[in-house]
Amino acid sequence: MEFKTDFLILGSGIAGLSLAIKASTLGSVAIVTKKEKTESNTNYAQGGIAAVTDQTDSFEEHIQDTLICGGGLCKKDVVEFIVKEAPPRIQELIEWGVNFTKSETHPSLYDLGREGGHNRRRVLHAKDLTGHEIERALNEKVSHLKNVYIYENHIGIDLIIKREGSDKIGRCLGAYVLDINKNEIHTYRAKYIILCTGGAGKVYLITTNPDIATGDGLAMAYRAGAQIANMEFIQFHPTCLYHPSAKAFLISEAVRGEGGILKLKNGSTFMEKYHSMKSLAPRDIVAKAIDTEIKKSGDEYVLLDITHRERDFLINRFPNIYNKCLEYGIDITSDPIPIVPAAHYICGGVLVDHYGNTSIDNLFACGEVSCTGLHGANRLASNSLLEAVVYSHRIYTEISRHYETMKQSDAFIAPWDPSGTTESDDSVVVTHNWDEIRSCMWNYVGIVRSNKRLERAARRIDLIQKEIDEYYWNFQVTKDLIELRNITTVAKMIVNSAFLRKESRGLHYNIDYPDTCNEFKKDTILVKE
Ligand code: SIN
Repeated sequence: MEFKTDFLILGSGIAGLSLAIKASTLGSVAIVTKKEKTESNTNYAQGGIAAVTDQTDSFEEHIQDTLICGGGLCKKDVVEFIVKEAPPRIQELIEWGVNFTKSETHPSLYDLGREGGHNRRRVLHAKDLTGHEIERALNEKVSHLKNVYIYENHIGIDLIIKREGSDKIGRCLGAYVLDINKNEIHTYRAKYIILCTGGAGKVYLITTNPDIATGDGLAMAYRAGAQIANMEFIQFHPTCLYHPSAKAFLISEAVRGEGGILKLKNGSTFMEKYHSMKSLAPRDIVAKAIDTEIKKSGDEYVLLDITHRERDFLINRFPNIYNKCLEYGIDITSDPIPIVPAAHYICGGVLVDHYGNTSIDNLFACGEVSCTGLHGANRLASNSLLEAVVYSHRIYTEISRHYETMKQSDAFIAPWDPSGTTESDDSVVVTHNWDEIRSCMWNYVGIVRSNKRLERAARRIDLIQKEIDEYYWNFQVTKDLIELRNITTVAKMIVNSAFLRKESRGLHYNIDYPDTCNEFKKDTILVKE
């Protein structure tokens, strides 16, 4: 079946929903989302959204903190406009019903949190459930819009690109989408296609990301021939709960912002050896320090200690973390929290210009799936939700400019052809390769890399990729197979980008090139041949 819409938005996090609200004033919107509409990386964001809202803060300081964190690779003009365009976007979120936590001492003001790399308190939050609150409010808003259709339990397979004559780049006409419950593949044709699919934490064995984070948009864009930038910069969050039966659970950086101190199992502190900001140093430094200390001591984890703060304060400020830890027998008001670093965020992504345009016509990218130039080699905490709302507004502005004259393409699109494929009777191939990719990336392409480790990873991923390709063309497409194909594609992109960067910078640390080198002060760009 072929569906026609003006806007096809893949993903229902803050980027997808905020864009849908605006795009619906122009035309019809279809949102394709893999699970329920609330399930997204946004939903799990604890810390909040960084923005200059306090009179004693300044754009200049937020810009500086972002640039310092970014290790020389941020695009300064992008950093400047994102930081400066933050206040109206925050106001809009508030008007859409997002309840940010108010200050207890000055109830007319918002409470501002602090996180690593920020020189002051600047992070608007809804206790420690900010993403959840944003998703609630935006979904509520979208539910009242008549021309927004949400397709839950649907997953994009591939983008549909039309290339004519010598036109190498092409134009995006839509996407093939699998209805997971009905096991049917449909064509979605649209004037504009916007990737808002989030990140790819599931490429790694240990991650703070939910199961949906399999890099679907990144892989689709790469296969379609879009430019992809800076995939070597994987941000490992320093503090993920360590517990044998806990599925990765984030302990927000805001805990360190409120005074949490990193300690070894024997109770001694160590961050003073690595940075003057100690436990509140930028994430790349904290994660690498923890990794070094864990390897040195042989311990499985280090501790995050906030027991010196008042019990009532902790329960009120971090209700989610308090309750979750309690489920595992850890009372954060009296016990230090065992933590390890975990894959958290991809600073690279589909390369976009100042208005979210990718290198393919009519294809936009917004949020974690994109690479705007804001994060450079290391993202400043809580800058990502901000990037998503500023860019969704910019994409809307860009599209509004040409909307009246933009015609829906009536070019022929061949329906999905399942002929020659059969139902797989060997799903263990998918499970096995899934586990292998994730362990391989964790062991060889983690916080500390080397040429030998990257080569090892590349060899293994190549083998798995061949096996998946064979499997893909012979068996009916399922969600699991699509996701495995996508994490493998993303894993290969990360390894290839890491090979190209023969230096250490920000989140990319290679022991064979331990220094930063001016020659590599540029983006790493990949394009599929
Ligand atoms: C956190 O709460 O530590 C996550 C915030 C972020 O990743 O920006």
